[in-house]
Amino acid sequence: MNNLPKKRKQRFPDHFYNNTTYIGAGLSVFILCCELFLFCIDFFSSAHSVYLGLITYVFLPPFLIVGLILIPWGAWVSRRRILKGAHGGTHKLIVIDLSLSTHQNAILIFMVGTAIVLIMTAIGCYKAYNYTESERFCGVTCHQVMNPEYTAYTQSPHAQVKCVECHIGSGVGWYVHYKMAGVKMLFMAIKGTYSRPTPAPVETLRPAKETCEECHWPGKAFNAIQLDKIYYPDDPSKTLPWNIKMLIRIGGGQNGESGIHAHMYYGDEIYYVPEDAKRQKISWIKAINKAGVARIYTTKGSPYKNTAPPQNKIRKMDCMDCHNRPTHRFEAPDVSINRALAEERISPSIPMIKAKAVEVLSKEYLSVDQALEKIRLGLTEYYAKKQAAYYGEHKDKVEEAIKAVSLIYRMNFFPEMKSRWDAYPDNIGHMISLGCFRCHDDEHKTKTGEGISRKCTSCHIITQQGSGTAVQKDSDGLPFQHPFDGDESWKTTNCSECHTGG
Ligand code: HEC
Ligand code: HEC
Ligand code: HEC
Ligand code: HEC
Ligand code: HEC
Ligand code: HEC
Repeated sequence: MNNLPKKRKQRFPDHFYNNTTYIGAGLSVFILCCELFLFCIDFFSSAHSVYLGLITYVFLPPFLIVGLILIPWGAWVSRRRILKGAHGGTHKLIVIDLSLSTHQNAILIFMVGTAIVLIMTAIGCYKAYNYTESERFCGVTCHQVMNPEYTAYTQSPHAQVKCVECHIGSGVGWYVHYKMAGVKMLFMAIKGTYSRPTPAPVETLRPAKETCEECHWPGKAFNAIQLDKIYYPDDPSKTLPWNIKMLIRIGGGQNGESGIHAHMYYGDEIYYVPEDAKRQKISWIKAINKAGVARIYTTKGSPYKNTAPPQNKIRKMDCMDCHNRPTHRFEAPDVSINRALAEERISPSIPMIKAKAVEVLSKEYLSVDQALEKIRLGLTEYYAKKQAAYYGEHKDKVEEAIKAVSLIYRMNFFPEMKSRWDAYPDNIGHMISLGCFRCHDDEHKTKTGEGISRKCTSCHIITQQGSGTAVQKDSDGLPFQHPFDGDESWKTTNCSECHTGG
């Protein structure tokens, strides 16, 4: 083994001169240089690349460790071989002789090396922890898979809240639980076996008490908030928008006894059993009030009319049963176009624009590129052929509208993941999906026939409604008038049966 030219002074004990140790030392020095270089880039540059973090703190460190292990391992194997030759295999203890300069060198390098590696490990672990907790790691690393949720998140009220604050929360147990689940998902992402769209994980989400309520404390009083909505007609014979202002009775505060948040904030507890994974069909509800009195509501066809449901199917209602889309909001075409028109990102003066824009957005496409091309083509053809006079004069407005519609598509539709508004019903209202009407439909009854109210004024009061000069106002509340046609079928039919959002 010891085949170094003898004229040069040997700096380390004999058994360090072997191929395995050389490879280990080479690998360690190489990775160490790379790490230092990447660390400097990460530390000093303001632009943070996801892949840089991934390489520096997750991918390279294991190779450094392998290199470092190879150094003593090679020496150990080589020492055994040398001893075998010299002593016929008899065992001999390691002897450290500090009077030998070769031993001094080996120990010095070992100690300095260990100190450097320990410091780097500490910094690396801290950086790796922070990095795997960052929203860029969660949202961008598996680009295609998380793209819908990440994109929607970046324009939501929680854009500054880290993914992990809702999805993991604090505590080592949950951290490990979710990181293990994350590793499984990473393999699914690599193999491409993940489901499209990503299932909404309400059952695997940590209880709201330990996430949402870290920031939104239950004692906060909300009273009522105003909703101010402007709706544009599909029907070309009507040109003026319809405006509804309403006060949503959130309620609350330390002593809040009524209002929407009374549901689960102040002593009331609600349990329910959903029939489907998206929790849209609810067949059994149990409400326990402050005094401890329980009431059970069931639907006509409920399997649990006479028997209690199995314990593992029962879910306790929390924030996320109403606020299930606090940050991943995929807007329905009807909603986003109404808003774009109200904000004049699309000119309301373009004839038929509401109906046409909603139509092109609602179609199914295979990819974003195909969608953007078809949206452009669909709208241009319609205006050039069917509204030629208008198009001749206002081509610029139509062009602007196409740009706005394309942007809406990019932000809310993800054909590769099949993610869009209708894949993820929003439970906060009741217009486009059942939402509150999953329970508040007068169909869920107790044995004595009491229902859960669908009375419009139990949740909000309308203070203004109408269009143009025909506007009604009353701060005590107005009876709802169905926009544009005054149709009365909303009294018995759920809004979402006609209003699908597209
Ligand atoms: C304000 C809290 C909050 C934040 C911040 C948040 N999420 Fe979520 N996320 C939720 C809730 C609540 C659900 C469950 C929705 C449901 O059950 O219907 C969810 C669901 C998901 C889903 C399942 C698919 C879906 O759309 O329901 C994915 C994937 C996801 N989040 C990824 C992320 C990523 C990536 C980030 C950071 C970029 C993030 N989340 C940040 C609250 C949050
Ligand atoms: C790390 C703190 C934090 C966590 C955790 C958090 N939020 Fe928020 N949330 C905020 C802040 C800050 C705002 C106000 C944003 C603003 O008005 O710009 C907000 C706003 C909201 C709003 C009003 C949004 C709107 O449409 O204006 C709702 C509803 C909400 N959060 C629900 C939730 C729910 C449900 C969860 C748990 C899944 C949650 N939040 C978790 C900090 C948090
Ligand atoms: C029964 C359904 C329901 C439950 C459960 C619920 N909320 Fe709400 N919450 C509402 C409604 C409805 C509003 C009115 C705002 C809206 O329509 O978006 C609201 C409003 C809010 C707002 C204020 C929004 C703003 O714009 O000022 C916050 C913050 C909020 N909720 C947080 C929570 C948290 C945290 C929990 C859990 C502890 C929770 N909510 C539980 C239905 C609910
Ligand atoms: C899982 C079923 C369920 C869902 C979903 C649900 N509720 Fe309720 N809600 C109930 C039950 C049950 C009661 C009656 C409680 C009782 O019997 O004491 C109730 C009562 C109420 C009350 C009256 C509270 C009071 O003290 O005056 C309001 C307001 C309310 N809900 C608003 C909402 C809103 C808004 C939504 C949708 C965002 C919603 N609920 C969704 C089950 C539900
Ligand atoms: C259980 C509570 C509840 C009941 C009952 C209820 N609503 Fe609502 N409604 C809501 C909530 C919560 C929202 C707000 C949704 C949001 O934040 O966008 C809403 C929103 C609306 C809107 C605005 C829709 C939109 O998204 O643009 C209209 C209009 C409306 N309700 C009419 C009615 C009428 C009419 C009735 C009676 C048949 C009724 N509501 C019954 C809770 C309720
Ligand atoms: C029988 C079907 C049907 C039912 C049920 C129904 N609507 Fe409508 N709604 C319509 C039609 C049709 C229009 C007119 C569309 C147009 O011309 O823009 C409309 C228009 C509206 C609009 C304004 C247009 C827009 O941009 O969305 C609102 C707001 C609305 N309805 C609210 C409700 C609410 C709230 C309920 C439930 C309480 C409800 N509707 C129930 C059929 C229905």
